[in-house]
Amino acid sequence: MNKPEMIIVGNWKMNLSPGEAETLADEICRWSKAFKPKAGVVLVPPFPYLQQVVQIGKQGGVAVGAQNVAAAKGGAHTGEVSAIMIKDCGAKYVLIGHSERRQYQYENESLLRVKIEYALEAGLSVVYCVGETLEQRKAHRQFEIVGSQLNQALMGIAVKRPRDLLIAYEPVWAIGTGEVATPAQAAEVHKFIRRQLATLFPMFAAQISILYGGSVKPDNASGLFGSENINGALVGGASLKAEEFINIIIAAHVAVS
Ligand code: PGA
Repeated sequence: MNKPEMIIVGNWKMNLSPGEAETLADEICRWSKAFKPKAGVVLVPPFPYLQQVVQIGKQGGVAVGAQNVAAAKGGAHTGEVSAIMIKDCGAKYVLIGHSERRQYQYENESLLRVKIEYALEAGLSVVYCVGETLEQRKAHRQFEIVGSQLNQALMGIAVKRPRDLLIAYEPVWAIGTGEVATPAQAAEVHKFIRRQLATLFPMFAAQISILYGGSVKPDNASGLFGSENINGALVGGASLKAEEFINIIIAAHVAVS
């Protein structure tokens, strides 16, 4: 049976000017073309840069994703972007359920479920983000929270191929704080996620990539990638600097070599 693919995803969030986005994408793609890393690389720019980054990505075998998608197919939804539009721009992935959207846009599992359905229907690969807050971690509720985020959004969802779904475990207390989960803390939640996936998608749970996210940097990446169930990273801050992001990809490449 195929192992999960090692994948490094760079979430640029609401950062970078058009010129900065072009330079960053160009540096990463030129490096990727020359180095040919064994880990997949995905850049996730803000919507206005999507097509531009898709074009640049083609040179270096770098895929592109969107940071969000509408919970509707099309029509009168001012300000929204549909899964089909994202796909037509040449993007292959979409982040769904990032903790910043859960927190600031009040997105909950019933909405996220609809987004997941439309994204899969359009042929996008979904990176579904889960993770507990600091209060929940202190109360030892991380498994209960992550379990319910997975079950409520994914139970009964028709996923046709294992590559269509990725899970990103991002403990909220580690995002943008510099406080990374220890490899042991991450590994035990990833193992739990793998078990949950086995009940949700028994046919291919073992092949789904489970990424870790939250203050991943070049100096902590290899420690995380040493665990069997940590199949890459969702990187925020460090994805905005070509050298840091490339060093994280190299850590992933080494882990699978
Ligand atoms: P960070 O963000 O790497 O800056 O902690 C990760 C994320 O929000 O995906």
